[in-house]
Amino acid sequence: MRKLLISSLVCFITLSTQVESAPNQRIFARKNISEADLMAKVDSLISKMTLDEKIGQMTQVTLDVISEDNNSGSSGTPHRIDKEKLKTAILKYHVGSILNVAGDKAHTLEHWHDIITEIQSMALKDRLKIPVIYGIDSIHGAHYTVGATLFPQSINVAATWDTKNNFKVGEITALETRASGIPWNFFPVLDLGRQFLWSRFFETYGEDVYLTKTMGRANISGQQLKDLSDKTKVAACLKHYLGYSVPQSGKDKTPAIITERMIREYFLPPFAEAIKEGAETVMVNTGEIDGIPGHVNYHLLTEILKGELNFKGFAVSDWLDIKKLYERDHLASSYEEATKMAIMAGIDMSMVPYDFSFIDVMKKLVKAGEIPQSRIDDAVRRILRVKMMLGLFENPMPDKSLVAQFATPESAQISRKMAGESLVLVKNEKQFLPLNPSRKQSIFVTGPTANSLASLNGGWTLSWQGNNESLYPKNKKTVLQALQDRFGNEKITYYKGVELNTKANDYDIALSAASRSDIIILALGEKAYTEVPGNIDDLTLDEAQLQYAQELAKLKKPIILLMLQGRPRVIRKIVDQMQSIVIGMLPGIEGGLAFADLIAGDINPSAKLPFSYPRAPNDLLHYDHKYQEISEDKFFNPEWSFGFGLSYTEYQYSRFGLSSKTMNENQTIKASVQVTNVGDHDGSEVVQLYISDLYRKDVTPPVKQLKNYKKIFLKAGESQMVEFSISIQDLMFIGKNNKNIYEKGKFKIQVGDQTDEFELN
Ligand code: BGC
Repeated sequence: MRKLLISSLVCFITLSTQVESAPNQRIFARKNISEADLMAKVDSLISKMTLDEKIGQMTQVTLDVISEDNNSGSSGTPHRIDKEKLKTAILKYHVGSILNVAGDKAHTLEHWHDIITEIQSMALKDRLKIPVIYGIDSIHGAHYTVGATLFPQSINVAATWDTKNNFKVGEITALETRASGIPWNFFPVLDLGRQFLWSRFFETYGEDVYLTKTMGRANISGQQLKDLSDKTKVAACLKHYLGYSVPQSGKDKTPAIITERMIREYFLPPFAEAIKEGAETVMVNTGEIDGIPGHVNYHLLTEILKGELNFKGFAVSDWLDIKKLYERDHLASSYEEATKMAIMAGIDMSMVPYDFSFIDVMKKLVKAGEIPQSRIDDAVRRILRVKMMLGLFENPMPDKSLVAQFATPESAQISRKMAGESLVLVKNEKQFLPLNPSRKQSIFVTGPTANSLASLNGGWTLSWQGNNESLYPKNKKTVLQALQDRFGNEKITYYKGVELNTKANDYDIALSAASRSDIIILALGEKAYTEVPGNIDDLTLDEAQLQYAQELAKLKKPIILLMLQGRPRVIRKIVDQMQSIVIGMLPGIEGGLAFADLIAGDINPSAKLPFSYPRAPNDLLHYDHKYQEISEDKFFNPEWSFGFGLSYTEYQYSRFGLSSKTMNENQTIKASVQVTNVGDHDGSEVVQLYISDLYRKDVTPPVKQLKNYKKIFLKAGESQMVEFSISIQDLMFIGKNNKNIYEKGKFKIQVGDQTDEFELN
């Protein structure tokens, strides 16, 4: 077998070639002024600034630093800014940026207006009147503002495979963030979701490079729409540059080992694409790659980001991360040394965030000649550029007219529709779903996530961890409440049965109620979390939940399992005993209603997994694995693969054809396929195009890679031809010289169950 491979290799491959990439074209996301004119204004301002004022611009503190001591409303007293502290921050230290909420809970729109107005009024009193750039994590909507539209989390938006959805998330989130007076959003997360244990998996667009790239671009386009000065837009912040999402241990903020080649093949492309789309800020990886913390990585920050990618905006550190180089990482032996290393590596703004220590340290370093003035000027230039692009000098204050567009019923509808499109039906034995709501049937609803809004939303919802149920809006529906509404209260019985990791008090009553019902709807999964508090040691779902499911299964009633969770917890033990399974992940505040829509047949499932759902906790392959991983009794054997998802109808693929069986580097060829809805429900299908580079001699190829996708709607019985164009860009890969190259030879192309081959000459 091995011999055969080698001889085929010789036939198929000629020398590898490198296509000279075009200079990096960026959208300049500002209308009515040229980049040159804007930068001239920036330079003129810089020429008037003192060193103190410049270092101030590079400093970001958290809202608590300028808040009254009782802190921030957490103890029931309303949050208030402390005027003296604010004065110190702005007039003494000339702080350039403030972030976050106080007291870890969302503020009202009105309170945000007061906060921003107070801050900017103080900034206007400073000598140069430079506005503060306020930043916030509007992760799945402007969740730090009470009442904002809350969308499905990114992993769910990716499961819709519809970039228009992510454009909408970007557009509405930007509007509601800006309506709160905040012009800068620490979103989107462009880290690849390739480490399932990671507690921020749900913030990603899943395991695939192309899906992440296209989803990220759509989100940025929605947030910025090529004009940051538009009063409904915000500056997107790409994070976490780079390689944060694949910690070896699976624990948040721990080391990753990624080679330069893999960085360029997998982790960099979504960021590169986003920068072309006009993204002007990035937040840096708090972890490390091969011993080099993100915050001192000159190669990634300066050579690649600001050099190769032609990024003109600024890089902000993550929370406390310069200090952590010394206190946590033991890389530097003092805070001073850490600061010098980070700034010289390319960090432009420090999310300090608890005090003004950074300023004093920086002054010392510059005065001692440890950090050249030119580096300071470069950082400040980048920061002021973004402030000017945002139009903050002209309009620093909240625009209250936007309140009318804040959290409209239409936005909630969009969120509900998107949530419905994000629920992945992975099992539906004997077409058990959809249920007929008008049929007489008793439904037993149970499980730890069935009556929780936090479990629908996950981290970054109204608070950092998202787990404070009391902050959630009273008018939104849990899964249980939505089912009661849709199927009628009289048909539904509910007992929790099990907590996340132990039996619930009503365990026995629950089992006996289950035994009297016709159908069981079991909602399992996780609580809300993010970052370090979400760390786990085992990907398998908690034993208590698995046992409960097994007890229920003994009753021989059909069970519909809904998984609400931020990462794919292994459920092998119970999969075979379930009639139907919906992987719900974190569908957001409208997710309960969307689930009821789905099982009642009001919507037809169309979501596809944006990751390969593991079958065992130590068998964590991705769909684009290597041949080595599936040879000699090794298999790619996930529970469900990337790209998989069922529907209530069926689609047939036929008439697959290529416009040519050969191409060269200057040509494109077309692949077309007919898709027919052969079932009796209307529905949407995601048509996915995969390419396999059959043999390579530079580095081994993955078995296949997603290169394009289109989502189409087909009425029952309807057919449509879908066409894709394939160019040399789709056939390139990063070679061992870390350059983008291609090799001549044969490629396999796959759409649905249709395959063909073509040759690159
Ligand atoms: C997170 C970032 C976030 C920042 C500000 C950090 O702990 O890693 O994603 O943007 O906090 O809230």
